[in-house]
Amino acid sequence: MQITIAILSQKGGTGKTTAVRTLADVLGRGGLQVLVVDLDPQGNLSDYLDVPPDAAPTISEVLSGATEIDKAIHGQVVPANLSLAETELALGGKIGRELTLRRALQQAPEGYDVVLLDCPPSLGLLTVNALVAADYALITAEAQYFALQGVEQAMQVVEVARDSLNPSLQLLGVLLNLADMRTVHSREALVSLRERFGEKVFDSVIRSSIAYAESAERALSILDHRPDLGRDYVAVAEEVLTRLGGFEQARRRVAQISSA
Ligand SMILES: Nc1ncnc2c1ncn2[C@@H]1O[C@H](COP(=O)(O)OP(=O)(O)OP(=O)(O)O)[C@@H](O)[C@H]1O
Ligand SMILES: [Mg+2]
Repeated sequence: MQITIAILSQKGGTGKTTAVRTLADVLGRGGLQVLVVDLDPQGNLSDYLDVPPDAAPTISEVLSGATEIDKAIHGQVVPANLSLAETELALGGKIGRELTLRRALQQAPEGYDVVLLDCPPSLGLLTVNALVAADYALITAEAQYFALQGVEQAMQVVEVARDSLNPSLQLLGVLLNLADMRTVHSREALVSLRERFGEKVFDSVIRSSIAYAESAERALSILDHRPDLGRDYVAVAEEVLTRLGGFEQARRRVAQISSA
């Protein structure tokens, strides 16, 4: 069983890329084969995962049809760089533009359990491609004022993708990120998300900490840099696996990380 999850948000800086990187790490520790795809011309995920800046080919060449996806997998990453902005523009004029990533991923090598798609901070064509290629959408929200509006907008795009091109797309959940529960803002954001989206909001929230910036700088997973904080992502990964179903062994292994 291969499951593809698009991680998206309408706003920038909601922790999408950190979530992709860290969930890939936790799921990998759970014994799953994980492929991550950078769909952001900023290339942050590729940087985080230490892909050399001149690695080629990238997702740009895949989406423009110049190469097949298997040639663009470096380690476990299909990287991106600024050329993706141009590719997105060129794609806009093509028939079937929303289906390009889906078709490319159908050619991916077998053996991956989970494919994580790191979307750019906009709800444009690249994010739509991710949603059309995905089985599930995971929306991240920063624990701030206006969190609810951002999630509502992302949700509308998920619904459009489902109604038009990908009827089997499901919402995996809404993840509250960069939360400081000592502040009124973070607590209110959680309350309003739970009122609106109920059970779809993950029980676990990701606490805000400067340690995330440090761990990104040192190219270290938060699980190694600050295992106490890493527990947040371990808990989210457990919830993700529970919601996906069918990954019982991996879920048990992940649960053991938190008790280690
Ligand atoms: N839980 C956290 N606490 C504090 N800082 C965090 C946390 N998670 C991520 N960060 C930091 O916040 C910044 C933005 O995170 P990240 O790049 O993951 O967000 P993003 O949603 O992918 O951003 P963009 O929209 O630009 O793609 C980074 O500097 C990252 O290190
Ligand atoms: Mg990002």
